[in-house]
Amino acid sequence: MPLESRPEKSQRPSSQLQRRIEKKLDARREQHLLRKVSAFHHQDGKLVDGDNLSYLNFSGNDYLGLAQDPSVIAAWQEGLTKYGAGSTASPLVTGFTHAHQDLEQALCDWLGFDQAILFNSGFSANQAVIFSLLEKSDVLLQDKLNHASLMEAGMLSEAKMQRFTHNSIEKLDALLRSNANAPARFVVTEGVFSMDGDLSPLADIKFRCEAHDAWLMVDDAHGIGVLGDEGQGSAHIANVKPDILIVTFGKAFGMMGAAVMCSESVHQYLTQFARHYVYSTAMPPAQAYALSHALSMVKSQTWRREKLAVLSACFHSALSDCSEVINTITPIKPVVLGSVERMQTVAQRLKKTGFLTGAIRPPTVPANTARLRITLSVNQSEAQVSDLAASLRRCIEEGA
Ligand SMILES: Cc1ncc(COP(=O)(O)O)c(C=O)c1O
Repeated sequence: MPLESRPEKSQRPSSQLQRRIEKKLDARREQHLLRKVSAFHHQDGKLVDGDNLSYLNFSGNDYLGLAQDPSVIAAWQEGLTKYGAGSTASPLVTGFTHAHQDLEQALCDWLGFDQAILFNSGFSANQAVIFSLLEKSDVLLQDKLNHASLMEAGMLSEAKMQRFTHNSIEKLDALLRSNANAPARFVVTEGVFSMDGDLSPLADIKFRCEAHDAWLMVDDAHGIGVLGDEGQGSAHIANVKPDILIVTFGKAFGMMGAAVMCSESVHQYLTQFARHYVYSTAMPPAQAYALSHALSMVKSQTWRREKLAVLSACFHSALSDCSEVINTITPIKPVVLGSVERMQTVAQRLKKTGFLTGAIRPPTVPANTARLRITLSVNQSEAQVSDLAASLRRCIEEGA
């Protein structure tokens, strides 16, 4: 381009983009909503930060305590020896091994589905299903508190998305009725809500779906492994078999990845049309091997779920009169503090006393419901949970 026809430096798209980036970051900073990544390492059951300060972790999703479990680590190491470091290709090329096949079969046996199809994350599994199954004129109905991966898929999908009030059967029913003429109706809910720790009324939802010829998909990222005699999750305890069940391995399984549990035909369909599956390198076979081992532990080691129940009772009995604490039967314990400033003050005070909790702010949760997301894990002791509860009470009482 001749020199004279080049745009001024300040008007060049790149600098406009730079200004936009800075403006948006400034806005986040001013609203106290800027997120930060910090590096930690694990030492003696604690998290240690860059300043060598150590904390008890009440903010993760390792509910069953498998992430640091020696036998899970050993299984992954054994898998590496058997299969090597990576899968080398997408599943449809040569990335699918017997380790993947064994894991899929074990998941089907455990959860009572005909087929399972593995993904590298829950985020991609959710997006793959919604993008590939739904077409223009279809209707996607989602609980308002569904995870960002589901909401974003709905926003980008060609289908019409409508959201119903959290856990409201009436609102869902009204939307199903008003969309009776759509070619397909697809209802999506979490089984256990990630930021609230409450359960979806799955039996009622399934009943409405059947009445209106709608499909039901349940994302059970936070229920699987935690609920049910063998950890089969929220759908199992509600005695519901959704059309599609999303299982993730980044929470109770202590690792990462996900599976879509489905019928034979949906499996075949996703194998043809789910781009996150077809065009992405398969998870390492060593990981699939370790996940099969973790699955056998999740199923058989009921003491882990029993311990979570003991810790949960301990937490709630210590804080039964604390109105900010929401009572849940899951390991997710929201402490709703309202403003971001108040939440951050309490989170910082807790951190100073050695407890890391999830500091959750909008847009992850609705405005004015900033909260601590306290999570329980089998790795914690009753004494540690009691100490956290006492510390939390003091930090709230000190005022914002
Ligand atoms: C309900 C829910 N679904 C999906 C995901 C995404 O799963 P993954 O972390 O495996 O991508 C999350 C993660 O936080 C989640 O909470």
